[in-house]
Amino acid sequence: MKKVEINTQITVFDNVEELNTDNLLLITSAKEATKKSYAPYSNFNVGCAVLLDNGEIISGANQENAAYPTCICAERVVLSAISAVYPNAKLLKMAVVAINKNKEITKPAAPCGECRQAIFEWERRNEQAIEIFMSGETGRIFHVDSISQLLPLAFGKDDLI
Ligand code: THU
Repeated sequence: MKKVEINTQITVFDNVEELNTDNLLLITSAKEATKKSYAPYSNFNVGCAVLLDNGEIISGANQENAAYPTCICAERVVLSAISAVYPNAKLLKMAVVAINKNKEITKPAAPCGECRQAIFEWERRNEQAIEIFMSGETGRIFHVDSISQLLPLAFGKDDLI
């Protein structure tokens, strides 16, 4: 028996001024997409924007439901929209931003477990890593080069064999 350490590494930007123009545009698109959020139950408005290999940015937001388990996170709203419109697209980068009208969110919004799994599937499908930027309304921005940094030991198609 032995203990094995699994390390993960993220990049932390102190604020948006440290981002290049393209990445700032993607985060701004995600922030703008929070306006499409339907979150009357949590008031937690999450916007997500994904840059595709055709140069388009597809964005969307979380959609809640009085029957809580029916809620859909912003990330999976956008992934589903991409499947519907550009099923063969390659996803290059994703930005996730959370805001709450009742209090300023200064902590970067990280994808939930289910969304991490969905993003992982897209990476496998595209055979290409997807960069992810995570942000609150203000403050630091987290960045990973691949979902593997947020979901080590992921369950994937190879595990079904
Ligand atoms: N939410 C997202 O949209 N993305 C996540 O990764 C985490 C949570 C949404 C779901 C729900 O509408 C609200 O945030 C509170 O959980």
